[in-house]
Amino acid sequence: MCGIFGLISNKNLNIGKIALDGIKRLEYRGYDSCGVAFQNGKNFDVKKVSGKIEALQEKYSLNSLSGSLAIAHTRWATHGAPTKRNSHPHTDCREEIALVHNGIIENFIELKEELISKGHTFKSETDTEILPHLIEDYLGQGFSFKEAVVRTLKRCKGAYGIAVCYAKEPDSMIVARKESPIVIGVDKGATSYCASDIPALLPHTRSCYILNDDELAILKAGEVEFFSVNNANKKIKKKPEYIKWSVDDARKNGYDHFMLKEIFDEPDALRNTLKIPDNEFKNFAQELVKANQIYITAAGTSYYASLAGKYMITRFLGKFIQNIECSEFQNRLSGALERNSVIIAVSQSGETADTIEAVRWAKEAQPDIKILSITNVVGSSLTRYSDHYIVTRAGPEIGVASTKTYVTQVLSLGLIALEVAKLKKSKPSEDIQKYYDALTSTPDIIEEFLDKNVNSIRAFVKNLEKNLNYFFLGRGISIATAKEGGLKLKEVACRFIEGYSAAHAKHGPISLVREGFPIIFIAPPDETYKRLVGNVMEFKSRGGYIISVVVESDKKVTDLSDVTIRIPQPSTRYYNLFSPITFIPALQILSYFAALEHGLDPDKPLNLAKTVTVH
Ligand code: F6R
Repeated sequence: MCGIFGLISNKNLNIGKIALDGIKRLEYRGYDSCGVAFQNGKNFDVKKVSGKIEALQEKYSLNSLSGSLAIAHTRWATHGAPTKRNSHPHTDCREEIALVHNGIIENFIELKEELISKGHTFKSETDTEILPHLIEDYLGQGFSFKEAVVRTLKRCKGAYGIAVCYAKEPDSMIVARKESPIVIGVDKGATSYCASDIPALLPHTRSCYILNDDELAILKAGEVEFFSVNNANKKIKKKPEYIKWSVDDARKNGYDHFMLKEIFDEPDALRNTLKIPDNEFKNFAQELVKANQIYITAAGTSYYASLAGKYMITRFLGKFIQNIECSEFQNRLSGALERNSVIIAVSQSGETADTIEAVRWAKEAQPDIKILSITNVVGSSLTRYSDHYIVTRAGPEIGVASTKTYVTQVLSLGLIALEVAKLKKSKPSEDIQKYYDALTSTPDIIEEFLDKNVNSIRAFVKNLEKNLNYFFLGRGISIATAKEGGLKLKEVACRFIEGYSAAHAKHGPISLVREGFPIIFIAPPDETYKRLVGNVMEFKSRGGYIISVVVESDKKVTDLSDVTIRIPQPSTRYYNLFSPITFIPALQILSYFAALEHGLDPDKPLNLAKTVTVH
């Protein structure tokens, strides 16, 4: 996810300030590097930095620059580290085309090879840079600017929101969209604007055109025309929409909080992560199959993702995997780290001090150890210490409590598990395909769940308001879900939670149960289900108030429960293995509404920071 902003005017405007303000309002979409291109009468002045928008202003004093055309970008890196060279805008060989892009061009490697063989020179490692070069190529074949852009887009697989300018046609800017948002605002007869999202347009206009997939718009000063990428000769009529939101509401896409928005982002975060090439997961699987000892380490939510991942991978690998909290890694393994070991490190930020220290220490203690990491941030410190890494595609997460990044971490670990199954042939290929189908349907299951269930969860959370203590219980892989669900409620609603094994809870914790004590059971119909029914009875018979998370066809646990939250998924083993992904949104939503009931801000839990860089 990145933010793009552009404007074209027939006035001499304070263009530097307007362009930087535009991307500043989109900074929630990404903030690791940024840049801007201005028309300078001949071609473009392109200014970029690795770092935040303030650094761009500080370095080039752009606030005082005047002009009438600019495109600007704030980046969340996916291909290529967040360096100045990889930041947008990107240009062609002659620097006559300047382009900003949000999305991923999946077939960029083939297109780049083709363009290099034709003599194009690339300056960055990004997928985006193929776009200005392809446009240059089509212009060189005699096509118009519009036709060159259309032909380029038709060659691209993947997602894009782009804004592109051509030095020889300084009175127009072309924008287009496929699966990455673009909105357009027009101050009639004077200035036209485009952006990845509405907040950037609100200081200029409240009347916005929303571009649909495969649509293209030609912006001129104070006017706009729309076309279909698939039939670019025919104009499309579009009506502007009037936007009533405040800037802050718009950044949250109309949701009251980032936490809620980011839970609703989960289906897309998963779909985008599913587009990561298979070979990245295969590299992990190959190392795991060769390894003597395997450790998986992380903190907080990432640790609970790793608990779920350990179950999935062990199932197909047939080797023991040790989960170790990163802060205890060195204490537990001093003098015991064997050669030919593998460490999987999981960290949303890739900057958690204890996680970094664990892998650094391990590499020093046993130099032939392999570090495999899963993070959400390209170029983060963790990637620099890793032999292989996977960058999940959740996009920036603003809410302090992790939500969408958790499901993408578990998904990535699930995909690694299935690559292990393929390599080891630990299951017949038809079975592996069924697991794969179940895993790829997790975004649809979550989408359907969120569509149907949010209001009913809100209603029963009201009755829980008085409770200060909760148990979250599960067995097998659902212990991970119980612990992560409990952590969410702890963080955002400030309640005391014991997230525990349902079986182990009868060896002590059960003595706390009194009439009405709330116990949340995570109960997918997997191999642990029968015994979990027994555990539910134990707690119910002591007066516990039973809330259970079950699949829609569930009967036994449902009959024992005071409240059920039902997940719309088939009750087969293929789906059950991935229940940590499909069951967690229920608990995230519950925690979100509990925070509201207690008058707390779910985006800013007390005493917590998004990234913990102290030991
Ligand atoms: C929980 C949460 C924290 C982080 C933990 C690790 O919602 O956000 O528990 O999960 O601090 O952070 P990363 O994943 O960045 O290493």
